[in-house]
Amino acid sequence: MNRRTERRARPPAARPPGRRAASSRDTARTARQTYRIAVLPGDGTGPEVMREGRKVLEAAAQLEGFALTWQDYDLGGERYLRTKETLPDSALDELRQVDAIYLGAIGHPDVAPGILERGILLRLRFELDQYINLRPVKLYPGVWTPLKDKGPEDIDFVVVRENTEGLYTGVGGFLRKGTPNEVALQTSVNTRKGVERCIRYAFAYTRARAARPPAPGRAGKKLTFCGKTNVLTYAHDLWQRVFAEVAKDYPDITTDYTHVDACCMWMVKNPEWFDVIVTDNMFGDIITDLGAMIQGGMGIAAGGNINPQGVSMFEPIGGSAPKYTGKHVINPLACICAGAMLLEHVGQRQASARVEQAVMRVTTRLKSLAAGKMGYSTNEVGDLVVKYLRESP
Ligand code: IPM
Ligand code: MG
Repeated sequence: MNRRTERRARPPAARPPGRRAASSRDTARTARQTYRIAVLPGDGTGPEVMREGRKVLEAAAQLEGFALTWQDYDLGGERYLRTKETLPDSALDELRQVDAIYLGAIGHPDVAPGILERGILLRLRFELDQYINLRPVKLYPGVWTPLKDKGPEDIDFVVVRENTEGLYTGVGGFLRKGTPNEVALQTSVNTRKGVERCIRYAFAYTRARAARPPAPGRAGKKLTFCGKTNVLTYAHDLWQRVFAEVAKDYPDITTDYTHVDACCMWMVKNPEWFDVIVTDNMFGDIITDLGAMIQGGMGIAAGGNINPQGVSMFEPIGGSAPKYTGKHVINPLACICAGAMLLEHVGQRQASARVEQAVMRVTTRLKSLAAGKMGYSTNEVGDLVVKYLRESP
């Protein structure tokens, strides 16, 4: 079996119930499982949080009896300023061969907006066809949320964001640029295939997630399509038709619809109504920043860019935070949580759960999740996660 088919055979993160992830016992019986991880620390505070992420994943691997090999890439603003290269084709070819990509942050104050984002982050998502952006919104114990009277039992949902189409394709153009009669077009691209694979993933994910017991009093096993069918009468007409059609294959899942503006409202007023939300690329980008805030901020919010048949990439969803760079005050938990998602994705479910449990203990100790206000330095937070991980059963 060559590497490619081997990877294809790997079950996706949202594993349908009944398909079992490799457990530590399985791996102990066979040869020690090794995963090749490409590391892209990137810009700003990226390298600082990535150091802690690696430390935690290494500890988890040791405890669970598998191995990680790391391949480092210096892609980012510094390299661009030096070489004018964003993502060389040779690096991309190598990245196609790894088991997963672990990304810190992309964005540099001396590089014009868009160059690194388009040239590295979006290019990776597109070229590797990571068509799902999976973003859990979960309030951990002890974490302050700006939502009054809401706690961890109320805020626990996942956004499945389409990640390769919509307004992000770069289709568009100018007419009469720079004149008073200028026209700028930015086209939202929604293909039947692209929409359907995203919606199918979201249904399968909702079903698999329901296999875990929901918090008491929460309505689980529900998929909400978030769109704007009253205005996007072509794009979201397609989305809605596909959503209704695919729903027939999942009679056990409750379906719901919300316009994106109302979705923002409900996320603030009644976040407990949501279990899984599926939405397009642009709306997903926007509502997940709101989601990050209600789960305690960018210090904790993680996401996965997923190609269920290919190479996936995991990242904290916050930026490179230039003003905190080098100060050792940035919160590494988002990067560590992205690492936990990576472990789950490659099949190390138990290791992933242990990292998450450890993070949930650490959040009860931090004064705040905000940079500079944690009461601990970046590496002390990483060390605490490792300590609790080692103490976990
Ligand atoms: C995100 C970011 C990116 C996006 C930017 C940096 C291009 O905001 O991952 O949410 O819009 O997808
Ligand atoms: Mg965003």
